[in-house]
This record gives sequence, C-alpha cells and structure tokens, in this order.
Amino acid sequence: MNYRHAYHAGNFADCVKHALLLWLVRALQRKEKPAFFLDTHAGRGRYDLASPEALQTGEWREGIALLRGDPDPALADYLGAVERLGLYPGSPRLIRSLLRPIDRLACCEPHPEEVAALKREFAHDPQVAIHRRDGFEALGALLPPRERRGLTFIDPPFEAEDEFARLAEGLRRAQRRFPSGVIAAWYPIKNQARVRQFHAMLQEGGPQDALAAELWRSTPLDPTRLNGSGLIIVNPPFGFPEAASALLRALHARLARETGSGYAIAPLDGAMTRLS
Ligand SMILES: C[S@@+](CC[C@H](N)C(=O)[O-])C[C@H]1O[C@@H](n2cnc3c(N)ncnc32)[C@H](O)[C@@H]1O
Repeated sequence: MNYRHAYHAGNFADCVKHALLLWLVRALQRKEKPAFFLDTHAGRGRYDLASPEALQTGEWREGIALLRGDPDPALADYLGAVERLGLYPGSPRLIRSLLRPIDRLACCEPHPEEVAALKREFAHDPQVAIHRRDGFEALGALLPPRERRGLTFIDPPFEAEDEFARLAEGLRRAQRRFPSGVIAAWYPIKNQARVRQFHAMLQEGGPQDALAAELWRSTPLDPTRLNGSGLIIVNPPFGFPEAASALLRALHARLARETGSGYAIAPLDGAMTRLS
C-alpha cells in the first residue's frame, strides 16, 4: 500500500473521473427516493495542491489548473463544486456535497493515514460512514443497500499487476449483489492493447449493460505513461451517453496534449469509436 493520492490529486485523470461522477450522482437523485453511495477506494477526502506531495509531481498543473475558469456550460457543475469546496475535493467530498438528507454515503479506505484523515473530514456526519477495510471485500458486505437505489464508485490505485483482473471480478460481484445498481469503475489507459484485454475480460460473464467512457490526452501506445483515463459505467442512467459526450468534449478541448488524443463512449463489445 504505497500509493498516496496526494501526489496525483487534480490531475487530468481525476478531472475526467470526477466530472462524470458528479453527473452520475445527480442522475441518481432525479427521483425523490433515497439513494446509497458506496466509494470503495475513497482516499483522504480532499487534497491541498500546495502540499509537498502535490508540488513534487505537479500533476494538477496539467489537470484542474487547465480547466479553472473554463466557460463551457458542460463543466460548470464540476468546476463550481471544486471552487466551492476549497482544496481539491476527492470523490468522498464531491459525493457528500450533493447528498440530500435522505441519502447515505459509505467510504472504504485501508491505509491508516488516509482513513484517519477521512474520519476527521467527516467527523460527526451522520450521513457518512467510514470503513477501514478492503474496498473489494466491501462489495460483498455493503451491497445491496436497503435503499435499493444507488451508485458504487470503484477507483483502485492500480499498484498491483493483477488490478485489472481484480477490478473485473469486483464489477461482476457488485452487479451480482446489486443488479439494478449503477457502478462506475475507473481504469488507467496506458496502452490500448491492455485496455482491449480488460474490455474482453469484462465481456466474459462480466457486467451486463455496460459502457466505457474514455479520454486519452496522448496516443495510447506508450505503456510507461498514463495516456488516458477511463470509466466503466454499469447500468448507465438515461441520458448518460449524451451528457458524457458533452463533458468529454469539453475536457478534451483543454486537456489534450497531442494530435493522437481523443475521447469515446461505447459498449464493451466493439472497438471504441473515436468521437473527437
Ligand atoms: C485512486 S485513490 C482514490 C481516490 C479517490 N477515489 C478520489 O477520487 O478522490 C486509491 C485509494 O485506494 C486506497 N486503497 C489501496 N488498496 C485498497 C483496497 N484494497 N481497498 C480500498 N482502498 C484501497 C489507496 O490507499 C488510495 O487512497
């Protein structure tokens, strides 16, 4: 467990995942029924972009720093939330900021320092439960929720060699436990071959009714670089492809680095058709 998100917070991959995540949270709240949100790999909740960790990599300079002040209406909700929440909000803080009094959020994080910070962040908040535990195991323990409506967000650190396989198994498990729930799972895009393998893995007995939304800021060929950011969305809410396409178009306009960049939204059963 060496991974610390403080080195990467607010980078281009975070911007893609968090902008889509906010849209999904709001989509779950279209009905006036309670919803449950599960953040399986939560991190510490919010990040100081002036911290030594953030300054060491400077990754946010090629992420949120390029988006601030962007007038594109597609980004207004995400950029408004970042502005309003102060520091860079991680997924628990972003989800919490939208909770209605009838909703609940559960967060899992095993790293001792990260979970301690997360507990401080949400001390005495009756709508947020923090679990110091493995996020993949929590899929079995915390799903299905009593609300029977909800979103599971899975955002692993991808430190281990078998993380794609664990994620594929996690997606299968989450859908078995809670078939009607929406799931959003993040994955890194380094080279395209690895991503195609992952999509193929998901097709074999994997989640039904799933889409992949991807943005790559440089050609996804070099396996040593983070070239893109992807999300698998299971049970995408009505209107997701159109909304995601507007969001990715706006993000791509600012975050792309090379001519080989692009974005796409597609079912898992075919090659991703580039939209840009
Ligand atoms: C990419 S970061 C999460 C960022 C966060 N979701 C956000 O958007 O702000 C991955 C987190 O997973 C944590 N982690 C590592 N192994 C884990 C496990 N087995 N279960 C749950 N979380 C884990 C790491 O400590 C790290 O904080």
